[in-house]
Amino acid sequence: RRVVAILVAAGSGSRIGGGMPKQFLSVAGRPMLAHAHAALTRHPGVTDTVVVVAQGEEERLLHTLREVRWTHGGATRRESVARGLDAAAELGATHVLVHDAARPFLPKAVIDRLLASFDQTDAASPALPVADTLAAAPDGKLGATVPRAGLVRIQTPQAFRLSVLRDAHAAWPASEEATDDAQMVRRLGVSVAVVQGDAVLEKITHPADIAAAEARVGAEYR
Ligand code: CTP
Ligand code: MG
Repeated sequence: RRVVAILVAAGSGSRIGGGMPKQFLSVAGRPMLAHAHAALTRHPGVTDTVVVVAQGEEERLLHTLREVRWTHGGATRRESVARGLDAAAELGATHVLVHDAARPFLPKAVIDRLLASFDQTDAASPALPVADTLAAAPDGKLGATVPRAGLVRIQTPQAFRLSVLRDAHAAWPASEEATDDAQMVRRLGVSVAVVQGDAVLEKITHPADIAAAEARVGAEYR
């Protein structure tokens, strides 16, 4: 098995603001991107890591990470993953882990669970149960409550046999957006195993998420 991690970091971070793409903002003492990159590159089961970076951000990337393999991203997350898949194929990957740079704190145990899933399945995603009550709110007023039993919140990294995810990307209509890769392979009828996620994997989307994430993590991430 040859596992290549694809770290997607070609977004602009428009919701967080901050003067530069959010993956370069400092979190717990390091640029956001550096945390997950370190977790992936030091894992013994991950052969290579490719960072997907926007055009024009190469210099910032090379300034942030001393040693890094990278490729250019696209206009959407889906296109950025597709560029990463091309790079993974060139590196001889049999399997990939696709991870958001916007989720800097990546426990080794989650990677362990995903790699272990490859013995049984071609696709897996970490997820956490939903704690809050969920309801529709179509026009600013609460509608029906959505039963939360059996619902999960999906995280990354998501794990795939390379050929399966490449097929899913090839089959996906260019006009349609996808929020994650598991959704794309499911459309081909591939079942995606759920492994236990982790609260520290929460995505950083809005300005307040940085302080919240820092408050959640222990000394091992500082
Ligand atoms: N991403 C990417 N290429 C894109 C868009 C997003 O590689 N064209 C990556 C982001 O860098 C991030 C992950 O996909 O690591 C999840 O996306 P999101 O949290 O939406 O980040 P941004 O798109 O950068 O933020 P925003 O939507 O607020 O602009
Ligand atoms: Mg986005």
